[in-house]
Amino acid sequence: MADRSVRFEPARDGLRGTVRVPADKSISHRAAIISAVCDSPCVINNYLRADDTNATLKAIAACGVRVDNLEEGDPVVHGAGLRGLSAPAEAINIGNSGTSIRLLPGIFAGQKGTFVLDGDASIRRRPMDRIVTPLRLMGVNVEAGEGNYAPLAVTGGPVKAIDYELPMASAQVKSTVLLAGLFGDGPTSVTEPLACRDHTEILLSGAGVRMEKKGLKAVVYPPDRLSLESVDVEADFSSAAFFIVAATLVPGSEITLEGVGVNPTRTGLLDIMEEMGADIRLSNERWAGGELVADMIVRSADLHGVEVDPGITGRCIDELPLVALLGAYARGDTVVRGAAELRVKESNRLSWLAVNLKSLGVDIKATYEGFFVKGGEGIGGGAVKSMGDHRMAMLGAVAGLASREGIDVIGFGCVAVSFPGFEKSLAALRAGNPGAEA
Ligand code: S3P
Repeated sequence: MADRSVRFEPARDGLRGTVRVPADKSISHRAAIISAVCDSPCVINNYLRADDTNATLKAIAACGVRVDNLEEGDPVVHGAGLRGLSAPAEAINIGNSGTSIRLLPGIFAGQKGTFVLDGDASIRRRPMDRIVTPLRLMGVNVEAGEGNYAPLAVTGGPVKAIDYELPMASAQVKSTVLLAGLFGDGPTSVTEPLACRDHTEILLSGAGVRMEKKGLKAVVYPPDRLSLESVDVEADFSSAAFFIVAATLVPGSEITLEGVGVNPTRTGLLDIMEEMGADIRLSNERWAGGELVADMIVRSADLHGVEVDPGITGRCIDELPLVALLGAYARGDTVVRGAAELRVKESNRLSWLAVNLKSLGVDIKATYEGFFVKGGEGIGGGAVKSMGDHRMAMLGAVAGLASREGIDVIGFGCVAVSFPGFEKSLAALRAGNPGAEA
């Protein structure tokens, strides 16, 4: 991973213009994985071209699935059918991508052969017992390193249907179980403790799979076949979040974000920011392939602190660190609880958030499951260490724009994991260039 540092100067003239952020990472992964087990070709329009999602496409190609436009453009996945994947001789390297290594075992569960998945040093530190446990309950043979860390070896075979209560709010684990449930000997259900992103359910149902949703319980009925003609991927709310926060914090800003996915299981940040007094308007709301999409206009606003309801953390887990940054500029205190999952992301996001923001002079205290921020004068200047975590790097950049003196982000190359054009898009908004494309 490139370890260049980038300096982000204050955006004294405000941010202005229109931007389209890159395609949704979660939906891109799922579209590739589900179309791999379809029995007809699927074109994925606006597939996210970033390191993580490219790794998923390469993984399915390594399993014998023909993928046109593998390297760039809109991929066409010629699915191998429900049980048609072949196990590659070598381990599949998914790099830094947690979603790839956690979701792919779901479709490997019903294949013939042993599929080995591995990744970078960060992936080898991330917990895999959360998928190993339910897969073993389903009768799937999964071998893992000591402590159930990657590499993982999944040997397909008969799959038992289960009723699984998720011990943590995780859309990745829910998805693994639902995907393995495609091969079950009856309907499989997953009950989540809090609502989390439901893109897997939406795409499986679009592929003709009978799905049921009753509150927090999702049920998948094993199909004979799956078929998806095309998937249109909207802009990623989690990428848009950096611009939403930047335009809110930088005085004199007004930006438009086009075609952003606003599936309610993703937009907890909007609820939090509304409570803090932000000025965000949605327009042109429409449905695209079972997903809600909208344009957003964001203007700068004065904020007040907020006590975030732990019940919504599943709907904004990737955005919660940004709430600490908002809190630093708000009047009063900001409190987040119920977010211990942030400790097991691409970095320990609670610890590093506190280390980074403290070094910038913010009065923040990390707890085991969240943080307290005392609102104040915002941020002077300094440096933020990404720790190889794309979202920490982008948070540092936003802090720089809103700061009084500018911020160096150390280790900026990792933004390629989800948003390779991030710097360019920010620069365009700073220059007030309407129509800037990410
Ligand atoms: C994701 C789910 C979340 C999120 C990750 C992508 C997904 O992880 O942090 O960036 O695509 O399902 P968890 O399911 O572990 O919370």
